[in-house]
Amino acid sequence: MAKFKHAIVVGASSGIGREIARQLAASGCRVGAVARRGERLAELEKEFPQLIVPCVHDATDYDSVPKVFQDLTGQVGGLDLIVYASGVMPIVEVDEYSFEKDKAMIDTNVLGAIAWLNQAAERFSHTGHGSLVGIGSVAGDRGRMKQPVYNASKAALHTYLEALRNRLDRKGVKVVTIKPGPVKTEMTAGLDMPGMMEPEQVAAFVIKKASKTGEHYVSPKHAVIFAIIRNIPSWIFRRLNI
Ligand SMILES: NC(=O)c1ccc[n+]([C@@H]2O[C@H](COP(=O)([O-])OP(=O)(O)OC[C@H]3O[C@@H](n4cnc5c(N)ncnc54)[C@H](OP(=O)(O)O)[C@@H]3O)[C@@H](O)[C@H]2O)c1
Repeated sequence: MAKFKHAIVVGASSGIGREIARQLAASGCRVGAVARRGERLAELEKEFPQLIVPCVHDATDYDSVPKVFQDLTGQVGGLDLIVYASGVMPIVEVDEYSFEKDKAMIDTNVLGAIAWLNQAAERFSHTGHGSLVGIGSVAGDRGRMKQPVYNASKAALHTYLEALRNRLDRKGVKVVTIKPGPVKTEMTAGLDMPGMMEPEQVAAFVIKKASKTGEHYVSPKHAVIFAIIRNIPSWIFRRLNI
């Protein structure tokens, strides 16, 4: 029997989000699959015709989110899980200061998440149940020289989710932050990083933790390493190339 019966995954056309949608559908859950690339969503629907409800939408079209959320929740038949997995991380050179790229990251990674998750938070606070999951990143734990705004976008998402957790705990609503390390997806295509995980692995972890309120590192090793990294004093951190 499916642990979750009705879900929405925002960012379901590739990578981690697509795998989450696929694994949820494989367990019998009806999934509203949201992203801009309709052809990718159609492929997913073909795989699970009764269970995937495709929804072509740009998460930065904030004004349309309340209606899209309401319509999709109706089509799915209810909601007990929402996962916001949409994200962008353009390549940024170490001496590049592109407002355009930086804005794109804030728009999708932060404001899109707030637009969608506020809708779910309000609904769940009335129904008194539900799980709300944001895909953060270990990259949000410190400000690093290579990706200032990607780091800042994930830190903002983490803090927003922590505040939602504190608001919604008393209402019985689960709020979950997932912090993956490097994962082999389109976002990281061309990057060769050690210990990259498969999106299937991360998706299974997300579904397992989706009803365990709190913040979860996907790799237990990262929980230890980043506890140390978070506590390195700034004056030392800026001398390190990490
Ligand atoms: N890969 C990693 O190493 C890694 C590590 C830690 C955290 N993460 C996080 O994991 C999440 C998923 O990333 P991924 O690695 O699976 O990358 P991905 O394969 O590039 O997937 C990104 C997803 O976001 C969607 N998206 C992007 N812009 C959107 C928009 N404006 N509106 C709606 N959907 C949008 C994409 O769909 P469309 O383009 O079809 O709209 C796609 O489904 C992101 O939040 C990322 O920051 C990734």
